[in-house]
Amino acid sequence: MRTSFDKSRLKILLLEGIHPSAERVFRDAGYSNIEAISTALTDQALIEKLEGVHFLGIRSASQVTRKIFESADKLVAIGCFCIGTNQVDLQAASEHGVVVFNAPYSNTRSVAELVLAEAIMLMRGIPEKSALAHRGVWKKSASDSYEIRGKTLGIVGYGAIGSQLSVLAEGLGMRVIFHDVVSKLPLGNASQVPTLDALLSQADVVSLHVPDLPSTRGMMTRERIDQMKPKAVLINASRGSVVDIDALANALRGQRILGAAIDVFPVEPKSNHDPFESPLTHFDNCILTPHVGGSTQEAQENIGVEVADKLVRYSDNGSTLTSVNFPEVALPPHPQHHRLLHIHENRPGVLSQINRVFAENAINIGSQFLQTTENIGYVVIDVDRDYSEIALENLANVEGTIRCRVLF
Ligand code: NAI
Repeated sequence: MRTSFDKSRLKILLLEGIHPSAERVFRDAGYSNIEAISTALTDQALIEKLEGVHFLGIRSASQVTRKIFESADKLVAIGCFCIGTNQVDLQAASEHGVVVFNAPYSNTRSVAELVLAEAIMLMRGIPEKSALAHRGVWKKSASDSYEIRGKTLGIVGYGAIGSQLSVLAEGLGMRVIFHDVVSKLPLGNASQVPTLDALLSQADVVSLHVPDLPSTRGMMTRERIDQMKPKAVLINASRGSVVDIDALANALRGQRILGAAIDVFPVEPKSNHDPFESPLTHFDNCILTPHVGGSTQEAQENIGVEVADKLVRYSDNGSTLTSVNFPEVALPPHPQHHRLLHIHENRPGVLSQINRVFAENAINIGSQFLQTTENIGYVVIDVDRDYSEIALENLANVEGTIRCRVLF
C-alpha cells in the first residue's frame, strides 16, 4: 500500500515564457520536475516534447490540436496562462480526459486602471494637446478641458472589470451608473439603470466592459453614439466587435463627441511585425492602444499564480473549479483516504457500473462526488487506503471510462 506520492514523478512543461511566479507555486507545492521554455513549439516539436508530460502550461501562441491530444498519453491538464482558450481544442481535450484551466480575472485591475487614466486624459483633451505638441504646436487652453470629479461614468457590463472600475472611479469623485443585462448588486454608491439608452443619455464617460456575444456585437451603432452627450467620451477596452468603428470615426470627424479611447479592434494585427490600420488613426482626440488593457507585469505575475494554483489543486486533490471544459468540483482534503478520480463519457449506465465495482469488492466508500457536463462525467470517490489499487484496476475496465487515476 502506498501512503504518499512522489511528486517529482509528475512532469511539468511550461512554454512561452510564462511568469516565474508559476514555477514558484509548483515548487512550493512540492513539484520539482519542471521544464520552462521561452517560446511556443511547432506541432511536431510539441508532440515530441510532451512525451511523459503530465501538466502543460501555455499562453496564446501554442496550438494544442486534436492530433496533439492523441499522442500525449500522459497529459492530465493544461493551464492556459492567459484569458482566451481558443488555442486549445477543448472538445478533444474533454474526450481525452484532459482538464483545461485559464485565468479570466487576473488582469481585471490593470484594465480598470487604464480606463480610468484614459477617462482623465480624454476629459482634459490631453491626447490632442500632446499630439499637437509633438508636431510643434502649443495649444495652451482650458477650453473643453474638464475634471472628472463630479462627472457621471456610465459602465456597460458590471462584471469583474466594470465593478472594479466603479470602485476606483468613485474614489476620484465620479458618480457611477451602470447597465447590465443581469441585476447586479451596486458597489459603493453606484446605481444600475434599466437600459443602455438611459445610460447613454446621462454619462459623461461611457466605458464598455461586456463580453463578445451575438447581443453585444455592434452594440455601439451610429444611433447609439449619437445618443451620447455632446461632450462625452467613449472608451472600449472590452472586445473589438462591440463598437462600429466607422460610426465612431464619423462621430469624431463631425466632433459629435469629445474623444474616444479604443484598445480592441474588429481586426487586430497578428503580431508586432504586422501593420496596424484603422480609420481612427486620423484623430488626435482618440487614444489608440494595441490591446494592452490587461498587459502589465502585475497581471502576468497574478496569472502565473492563479493558473499554477489551479493545476496544483487538480493534481493534489482533484478539484476542477473554474475549469473551462470539465465538470466543476470543489473537493475537501482527503487525509485519511485514497482518492479515485474517474472521468467517463456521460451516458446511461456508467455510474451503476462504477458503484457495482465497490459493491462487488466490498469496498467502503468514504465520500463520493459527481458532476457532469453534457459529454463528460467526473466521479471522485474517497476509499480506504487498502482498497484503492483494486478499485482502480476495476474502474479502469468500466465501459465508457476515459481516464482513471488515484491520488494518495
Ligand atoms: P465579466 O464576464 O466579469 O463581465 C461582463 C459583464 O457584462 C457581465 O456582468 C454580464 O452580465 C454583462 N453583459 C453581458 N451582456 C451584456 C449586454 N448586452 N449589456 C450589458 N451587459 C452585458 O467580464 P470581465 O472580466 O469584466 O471582462 C469584460 C470584457 O473585457 C470582456 O469582453 C473581456 O474579454 C475584456 N477584457 C479585455 C482586456 C484587454 O486587454 N483589453 C483584458 C481583460 C478582459
